[in-house]
Amino acid sequence: MRLICVVGARPNFMKVAPILEGAAAFPTIECTLVHTGQHYDERMSTLFFRELGLPQPDVYLGVGSGSHAAQTARVMLAFDEVLDTVPADWILVVGDVNSTLACSLVAAKRGVSVGHVEAGLRSGDRTMPEEINRILTDQLSDALFTTEREAEAHLAGEGIAPDRIHFVGNVMIDTLLRHRDSARARGFPRTLGLGPGEYAVCTLHRPSNVDEPAAAENTVAALDHLVRRLRTVLPLHPRTRARLASFGLLERLESMSGLVLVEPLGYLDFLALMDGARVVLTDSGGIQEETTVLGVPCLTFRENTERPVTVTQGTNTLVGTNPERVGAALDRLLAGELPAGRIPELWDGGSAKRILQVLADLEAASAG
Ligand code: UD1
Repeated sequence: MRLICVVGARPNFMKVAPILEGAAAFPTIECTLVHTGQHYDERMSTLFFRELGLPQPDVYLGVGSGSHAAQTARVMLAFDEVLDTVPADWILVVGDVNSTLACSLVAAKRGVSVGHVEAGLRSGDRTMPEEINRILTDQLSDALFTTEREAEAHLAGEGIAPDRIHFVGNVMIDTLLRHRDSARARGFPRTLGLGPGEYAVCTLHRPSNVDEPAAAENTVAALDHLVRRLRTVLPLHPRTRARLASFGLLERLESMSGLVLVEPLGYLDFLALMDGARVVLTDSGGIQEETTVLGVPCLTFRENTERPVTVTQGTNTLVGTNPERVGAALDRLLAGELPAGRIPELWDGGSAKRILQVLADLEAASAG
């Protein structure tokens, strides 16, 4: 099987790393790595390649930033040319970013089979660009690899044949388990003067929370509730920084005593930071899953989640976007009302191997 693995943006790198590493044990699968360049700078991309031991991409498309339409279109044009020169039987895409959808659409129309890792997650909120990417990528996919049981029902409801769906667990957790000890050993929180359980971590970048002035004000008000209770580290996503600066809100953040503003962190230092935190406040998708496995309470600053297993089984609480509710949830946590989380089924470090086995079996079946 000639397989093209696609990465584009920061949350893709940790998902593809264990698949590429594991592929060495599957002699019938020959991988090519394509990086679309949706994220492109040192802190959003290069650092992750180094830390996760990812090989240099075989092909780099350099599409960069732009509107959703422009970015998606640029990936499509460039990836179409890749398929002219790199023969492929399958492509493997991960997650829900614009690159995921763009490459799936190009491949499907050229008769190249598509495998989607993290299929079937649904927030039910079509105002999220990622939700559109998820729904359409799943429709285009031939093999759908799911991380939690509920995903199967979403896919069935959208008419996906059950024999295309493979419940394999969570590849991002393969990477977390692999790097947890080395991340701890680097001791990043100590370099900020923070001991285990003494601080909070916050990440915010969802368009709905930062792209409009009123929403951004509201987000800063929620952050203020956190900072008044605990020293808080906030690695600032480049888009969040740009938006807050343009709304005149960055100065307010900079003047909050108890807030440690840092640049976007690499994988290992961010993992260690989460691991030692008393609580994490976030609007990210992946962080809801990582905190569940680390056993760290997570408050999700959104009205919905596409990852319900982190709430029903893990340490996640969906607090919504009302700052007062964030404050109340924090008070309950700090008073010792902690979620009794457990690790979801198959989040065990073996997911990449399961995906590769499915692909190897599909290859054997098509050859035979
Ligand atoms: C994308 C994903 C989102 C994911 C997030 C993680 C989509 C629709 N969204 O959103 O699902 O959670 O990545 O970060 O694909 N920028 C840099 N350096 C970079 C890349 C981007 O400074 O290396 C800045 C640019 O100013 C750009 C902005 O960040 O305008 C946004 O980047 P973009 O790729 O459009 O999407 P994200 O908002 O990061």
